[in-house]
Amino acid sequence: LSSCGSRKTVQKGKLMDFTSTVIVPLLFGSLGIFALFRLLQWMRMRAYLQEAVVVITGATSGLGKELAHPALNCILLTLVYSQTHEPHPVVFDLSDTKSVVNAAEEILKALGHVDILINNAGISFRGTIVDTGLDVDKKVMETNYFGPIALTKALLPSMIKRRQGHIVAISSVQGKISIPFRSAYAASKHATQAFFDCLRAEVEQYDIEVTVVSPGYIQTNLSLNAVTADGSRYGVMDKSTAEGQTAAEVAQVVLNAVGQKKKEVLVAGLTPCLAVYLRNLCPRLFFTLMASRAKKERKVKGS
Ligand SMILES: NC(=O)c1ccc[n+]([C@@H]2O[C@H](COP(=O)([O-])OP(=O)(O)OC[C@H]3O[C@@H](n4cnc5c(N)ncnc54)[C@H](OP(=O)(O)O)[C@@H]3O)[C@@H](O)[C@H]2O)c1
Ligand SMILES: *[C@@H]1O[C@H](CO)[C@@H](O)[C@H](O)[C@H]1NC(C)=O
Repeated sequence: LSSCGSRKTVQKGKLMDFTSTVIVPLLFGSLGIFALFRLLQWMRMRAYLQEAVVVITGATSGLGKELAHPALNCILLTLVYSQTHEPHPVVFDLSDTKSVVNAAEEILKALGHVDILINNAGISFRGTIVDTGLDVDKKVMETNYFGPIALTKALLPSMIKRRQGHIVAISSVQGKISIPFRSAYAASKHATQAFFDCLRAEVEQYDIEVTVVSPGYIQTNLSLNAVTADGSRYGVMDKSTAEGQTAAEVAQVVLNAVGQKKKEVLVAGLTPCLAVYLRNLCPRLFFTLMASRAKKERKVKGS
């Protein structure tokens, strides 16, 4: 028994030796290398974002305002910023293609080039399809889809020439799933997702990056500013929007995604993420859930 016990201590001693001479240094060594790697990554990201000429649409409020915040500015409708360049606000209407093209010209004239374009501005929609005039569908589509792609197309040739650039689209979880009474909005965001996925593939050969960001709910004025079936302002702060993530939180995720050159990022809670998977893996169940949601929302409105 005693010899057995002493052998055990010897083995234990050997094990301790092994732990202190091999495992511990290996662990700390790899932790150190990992930390160093992350630090370098972070420094590269900071340098990339700091020196870049960035164009953010919709910098007057909500997410756009927060995105512009790190560079200490926020002005008017659309903003061009960088810490080494003076902020340069450009006012234009995304639903008017001519004014978008003029704005792009003005931006290039003033700054020479654009490193990062963040297509953030957008408008939401609330209403039933049967009551909504086609002019409202067109307005949402023009603001959320045709405006951003017009701006992107206007700036793309100069990016291709420099073989450098990064284009970001702020889409939505509703670019991946459609929920009832949001038809025009969901359609515009699905179109956004499709367009920028194509673009990513087409411009990779010019070293241009494309990031599609799909947030869930963010605490902004988006639902207040939403357009309704008859074209009027919705003017209601939805509970889901009020309980969403803060614009500052989402802005941080967007800037990190840009710094790390991510292809796409879903910024949402568990339920929206599950809904996206359900839509793809079990569409019949998803459709049933959406139909009952539509019925429930109608009842609430009716009462
Ligand atoms: N809030 C959410 O729950 C949520 C969720 C997912 C995705 N998103 C997306 O996030 C982006 C930012 O929205 P937000 O939540 O920050 O809403 P927001 O506070 O209402 O801000 C929208 C911005 O877009 C600008 N804009 C609207 N129509 C425009 C037009 N025709 N031409 C030029 N600019 C226009 C607005 O400028 P003016 O105020 O000067 O008109 C404003 O700066 C949108 O693309 C939205 O779809 C939001
Ligand atoms: C929402 O709109 C109000 C009034 O226009 C404004 O004061 C506020 O800053 C806006 N909120 C956000 C998050 O942009």
